[in-house]
Amino acid sequence: MGITLSTGFLKNFVSTEEINAYAGAVKKAHDELHQKTGAGNDYLGWVDLPSKTPDALVAELTALAKEVQAHSEAIISIGIGGSYLGIRSTLEFLGGNPALPVYYAGHNMSNADMSRVLKVIADKKVTVVVISKSGTTTEPAVAFRLVDAAMRRKYSGEELKKRIICVTDAKKGALRQIADKNGYRAYVIPDDVGGRFSILTPVGLVPLALAGVDIKAFVDGFRAGEKEYSQTDLSRNICYQYAAIRNILYKKGKCIEMMASFYPNVQYVTEWWKQLYGESEGKGGQGIFPASTILSTDLHSMGQLMQDGMRNIFETFVMIDKAGDAVLIPNDPLDIDKFNCIAGKDLDWVNKQAYHATADAHYEGGVPNLLLTLERADAFHIGQLYYFFEKGVGISGYILGVNPFDQPGVEAYKKKMFALLGKK
Ligand code: PA5
Repeated sequence: MGITLSTGFLKNFVSTEEINAYAGAVKKAHDELHQKTGAGNDYLGWVDLPSKTPDALVAELTALAKEVQAHSEAIISIGIGGSYLGIRSTLEFLGGNPALPVYYAGHNMSNADMSRVLKVIADKKVTVVVISKSGTTTEPAVAFRLVDAAMRRKYSGEELKKRIICVTDAKKGALRQIADKNGYRAYVIPDDVGGRFSILTPVGLVPLALAGVDIKAFVDGFRAGEKEYSQTDLSRNICYQYAAIRNILYKKGKCIEMMASFYPNVQYVTEWWKQLYGESEGKGGQGIFPASTILSTDLHSMGQLMQDGMRNIFETFVMIDKAGDAVLIPNDPLDIDKFNCIAGKDLDWVNKQAYHATADAHYEGGVPNLLLTLERADAFHIGQLYYFFEKGVGISGYILGVNPFDQPGVEAYKKKMFALLGKK
């Protein structure tokens, strides 16, 4: 089944005719992406990246992973934004026990977090992966300065070199210079793939391989997504339908998209999605505000607002069909809580009833909602889902009339911070 889209709870908010009316705009956006003629066309390398990703890279990184796993007990992954979120999202989505635990740095400047990372370096045998496309972003640069110094206190010579891996531009940026000067292993992020679209490049593939993820299945999921979501017939392409539906709802005043999941392992997928959609569409005074909830947890904090607050929200649920080993609810002879009605049922069945109830209640409360269902929570399906969202925002952004591939607004705080830091 792969990934499916259900639109039952859009009734009376979005009609099939309205979606079909977008066929021309969607086809135009599709052509601009595939022929690389649209805005931001220097950054369209992600469109056919899955089919262009060489099997040899997957084999090389799988061999690197074996080598690193043999001499390390933990990975330190340094990066922010597109150089952080997809890695964490994938690992948390897959859950379980990675071959090597991953500790993150460079996405904040918290003393407490950094102290924990420095302690890991002192106590364990580690390998560091430092990721920055520009090679000049402040947070990861400062984190790497601290981590590099800690690594040098512990290791030297060839031992140090084998434990620091850089992922950055082929030529530009301070990180490239640091890698070249110190002889650190370096993997290249292609010029034509922007940060938030880079999870399929060495940005994601290197740390995910080291952590033990089946990167072949991950790449195959992307490839399935590329094939599935390149069909120009709107009625057969759920990704293009999603892009059209968002624009229809936005025009009707639904300016917040709440991504909601009843699966806690989806939380960082929603964080990755927020960067992808927020940075791609939020410009020129436009853009749907991407927000997220994890349920049932947030039903008891955000539930009131979702049911009854300002009616400017639509919701996209992400569910997992085969959610793992069953956990059966026991029978209780006393039945004081009156839940023997679900005795013998799998907890995930109850979770799915909570979804149906919530989607229906929110719909009746004036929140139209969509449902994306993944067959299972594995490397293949998360790869396919990433491509679904990447393609979806390319089409949706072009329909909206923005350049989805730049992020000029991210620079504003940096300039002010450099001034405060006295950085030349
Ligand atoms: O989407 C983007 O390009 C940005 O948000 C980047 O991901 C983020 O700023 C990190 O950039 P870099 O990898 O150059 O350090």
